[in-house]
Amino acid sequence: MSNTDFYIRRIHSLSGIVPIGFFLLEHIFSISTVLAGPQAFDATVAHLAAIPHEILIPLEIIAIAIPLLFHGIYGAYIALQAKNNVGDYGYARNRQFWLQRMTAWYTFAFLIWHVGYLRFMVKGGGTPINYALMHDYLSNPIVFVLYAIGLVAAVYHFTNGLFTFCITWGIAVGPRAQGFVNKAAWGLFALMSGVGLLALTRYIA
Ligand code: HEM
Repeated sequence: MSNTDFYIRRIHSLSGIVPIGFFLLEHIFSISTVLAGPQAFDATVAHLAAIPHEILIPLEIIAIAIPLLFHGIYGAYIALQAKNNVGDYGYARNRQFWLQRMTAWYTFAFLIWHVGYLRFMVKGGGTPINYALMHDYLSNPIVFVLYAIGLVAAVYHFTNGLFTFCITWGIAVGPRAQGFVNKAAWGLFALMSGVGLLALTRYIA
């Protein structure tokens, strides 16, 4: 690996946490306000919509679109490279590595659909997003199931990514530290996907 490759890999790794991972956390929190009722969700949307365009659009481009495009496109390049360094790990780690790749691909396709439709076609076309719209949309069982898988896949990719991030950056070095971070990542996975899935069911309640 050349020096440049090393630094790009490091930026790729970091971008998965800051800003994309933070955005995922914020996004799951926002959609989960529906747990307090449809009005609470609509209030969250109104709150976000109140951010002036001159701030929101550059923020969306700089803090979300560019990092996500970089992470997704370079991530696809990494995932397509044949050398899977799985040899040194046990069976569970191998499976986690494989799942990290699979969830990357599902998230990739899901985000094109999710962002393309809701952000560009619906919102970009001038239709405001609110509870009623999400209720109608998610009432289609195929859409609901694909969204549920998309949510769990993105959360797994992020939380297992937090674990590999700690290894990549030398934060969790020994087997004990790595075991601890792995368990914490599984805990975060259970929490985020549990809350997210529960919220998803409220849209069709
Ligand atoms: C919700 C969106 C996403 C988030 C929050 C996210 C987050 C992360 C995190 C935290 C890591 C761990 C970095 C590390 O191990 O040091 C990671 C790794 C990775 N991501 Fe993503 N990611 C997202 C979307 C994607 C997409 C769309 C792809 C493209 C197919 C992708 C491909 C990858 C790959 C291949 C790795 C492993 C890199 C390696 O082995 O060094 N990710 N991601």
